Amino acid sequence: MLIKRKRGWELPESAATPEAIYLKRRTLIKGLAAGPILLGAPAWLAGAAEAAEADPSAGLYPFPKNDKFTAGPGRKLTPEKIATTYNNFYEFGSHKQISQRAQALKTRPWTVTIDGMVEKPFQIDIDSLIKKMPHEERIYRHRCVEAWSMVVPWSGFPLKALVDLAKPLGSAKYVVMKTFQDPKVAPGQRQTWYPWPYTEGLTMFEARNDLAFLVTGLYGKPVPDQNGAPLRLHTPWKYGFKHGKSLVRFTFTDKRPKTFWEALQSSEYGFWANVNPKVSHPRWSQATEKDIGTGERVPTQIWNGYGEWVADMYANLKGEKLFM
Ligand code: MTE
Repeated sequence: MLIKRKRGWELPESAATPEAIYLKRRTLIKGLAAGPILLGAPAWLAGAAEAAEADPSAGLYPFPKNDKFTAGPGRKLTPEKIATTYNNFYEFGSHKQISQRAQALKTRPWTVTIDGMVEKPFQIDIDSLIKKMPHEERIYRHRCVEAWSMVVPWSGFPLKALVDLAKPLGSAKYVVMKTFQDPKVAPGQRQTWYPWPYTEGLTMFEARNDLAFLVTGLYGKPVPDQNGAPLRLHTPWKYGFKHGKSLVRFTFTDKRPKTFWEALQSSEYGFWANVNPKVSHPRWSQATEKDIGTGERVPTQIWNGYGEWVADMYANLKGEKLFM
């Protein structure tokens, strides 16, 4: 008889956040954040208390999992260690090993500005925003334009909820999202040939789509700096470069923004960036991708497998370069 031994990364999806555990951990960490640490408390408890102090939202995690979103057939959750140490965050370097450097980012206090074509522009601090927004955990596949991918339990809230809070005017057609800019903290921003700050954008239709998600956490904890703390986008049907990290500004406008990678190299990176295995990058094929958790090469799916949620939005946009 074949006995299948489970390896570390073969977590069942249900293990992303079992309900009893999240309720218990939440109560415990909340209590710790409120009071002094008991003498003799185990090291992990002390660590959690420290985290709760530095990040007032820490006690809120993990959030309940929304079972509508799964890894998909044959895909497994990527180990946390891999997803948090193999990153793209050019503000901290143009290679994957930026996780240590990114710790220089101070994510409290953190102010988010909402402006442009809205009823009334305003600013809100990240913890007030987190408290207002309907949080949950979703498992999404994450496909980078460089042909690697991973599967991660993300915590956050629908971008639509932020759009509703912002009250855009009917004339707004796009939402533009900008990353922080502080070259003292982010050495990459001293490289003046890049068009800082990192800028991304979506149409209002895309921003209101059920899948468009603002991430505040990973693996049942606040999102680490290297993955875009304290607020980053995830639109799983698009290539990862659409997911601006460490966002500070949402501007509603009737003009299509020039996005970061488009401004750098428009022949390779466009505004839409929807995943399509049949449309190659000018320098490599997009037909398959390497799952960085398992090391396996898997076929890439059109819209990254999320077509039933999103394909309709593009039915009347045939003249656009939807897949680059
Ligand atoms: N956001 C900012 N501000 N700077 C970046 O360099 N890289 C993008 C995107 N968001 C990037 C960014 C790219 S190319 C990808 S694939 C994803 O972040 C990577 O997200 P991850 O490191 O959490 O996997």
